[in-house]
Amino acid sequence: MTNKSVTEKKSVLAGAIENTVNWVDERFPLTSNVKAHLTEYYAPKNFNFWYFFGSLAMLVLVIQIVTGIFLTMHYKPDASPLDGILGNPSVAFASVEYIMRDVPWGYVIRYMHSTGASMFFVVIYLHMFRGIIYSSYRNPRELIWLFGMGIFLALMGEAFFGYLLPWGQMSYWGAQVITSLFGTVPLIGPDLMEWLRGDYLVGDATLNRFFAFHVIALPLVLLGLVTAHLIALHEVGSNNPDGVEIKKTKDKKTGIPLDGIPFHPYYTVKDMVGVVVFLIVFSAIIFFAPEVGGYFLEANNFVPANPLVTPSHIAPTWYFTPYYSILRAVPPIGVSQFPGVVAMGLSVVVFAFLPWLDRGAVKSIRYRGTLYKKWLFAFVVSFLVLGYLGTVPADKFGQFGAWLGKADIATVVARIFTVVYFAFFLLMPWYTKRDKTLPVPERVTG
Ligand code: HEM
Repeated sequence: MTNKSVTEKKSVLAGAIENTVNWVDERFPLTSNVKAHLTEYYAPKNFNFWYFFGSLAMLVLVIQIVTGIFLTMHYKPDASPLDGILGNPSVAFASVEYIMRDVPWGYVIRYMHSTGASMFFVVIYLHMFRGIIYSSYRNPRELIWLFGMGIFLALMGEAFFGYLLPWGQMSYWGAQVITSLFGTVPLIGPDLMEWLRGDYLVGDATLNRFFAFHVIALPLVLLGLVTAHLIALHEVGSNNPDGVEIKKTKDKKTGIPLDGIPFHPYYTVKDMVGVVVFLIVFSAIIFFAPEVGGYFLEANNFVPANPLVTPSHIAPTWYFTPYYSILRAVPPIGVSQFPGVVAMGLSVVVFAFLPWLDRGAVKSIRYRGTLYKKWLFAFVVSFLVLGYLGTVPADKFGQFGAWLGKADIATVVARIFTVVYFAFFLLMPWYTKRDKTLPVPERVTG
């Protein structure tokens, strides 16, 4: 083919594409949306690796939905024992084993989904931590943060409901423990618990409703909230590692922020780096250590659920353990565990108040003083220590002597860190105001 005919062919193709796009644009705002959200959406030029986690959260959400659809093709939400003998594998348990052993590529799909659940929390915790260190929750981004909190709660529900589905020992007893917490609510507790379970004990009715929540109700809520999260983000624009508003310094002629660069191609390409690194770690876990030492999948969950045999140690999956530790640390009033339940609920919900608790003169940690940094450090340590303590039995480290009331060492340590955890939030208005901050530059650096 001559050079001329190649050029002619190209221009015929370009013309056809242009005509098609015009045809669509007259009926649907395609080009204007691509411009508004990608090619002419200006993001700060100084994003660092902390800004990978938003796009990674979207990637994991897609992985969970796609693998979930394939799992649903083979999974059966039925708690009745295959052979009618209580404690023997149920139809649900057997259907998961069938996926693992007989469905072509079934084990990969299942491990992608179970690993995806834990990696979702790894990504979300890092994404939230970025929001905290750069105070991305503050004016004008409070709603982005609140939609994020909604996502976080929905995600916790999604993970809890999903864990019941294999109907293993941890599924069963985990659900038993968590639904019992609602039984501690004064007056309405026992009725509330029965209403949630759909039965006196966790059983087939519970499995069916948790399945419905897991595969359709909460995914819909999540997708709606993620859409709202991104619409709010694009309304006000991203924060950045300097905490400087790029919309304040615009080019006088074009109105484009001087420190902004088009999201596409610059950040679509940069985000690919995060995606590749993430997929390497993700695949390594799936193919070499899908249980991650019992943290992602517990050994006891490969044992069929048995309502007559309580496992000696019941702990939730790692992403719930800081809050579970707080639940155990707060002493009961008489026999009522309700104070612990309230403290656990507050330890999650308290993040929603950050936009109003933080009174700092600056946003980014780069310009904060040592007082704030010390409190943040104390919070991170308390989150990690509580997270660890929630994975071990309360008597793991023995007891203090009689002079300290023979209290479990782990419980006392958990109590101290529970106080530090809440102090980080409750004292924030005070220490962020007193903090000696550094001057913030006019324009973003680097
Ligand atoms: C499915 C879960 C989520 C998805 C898919 C998601 C997605 C995103 C994306 C794509 C961005 C822009 C890129 C970036 O800044 O990293 C973003 C920003 C943000 N997200 Fe999320 N997010 C999720 C959950 C959360 C949660 C749980 C919170 C906090 C409670 C949160 C708080 C924020 C904040 C404050 C920003 C703005 C950050 C800034 O401008 O510095 N997000 N999110």
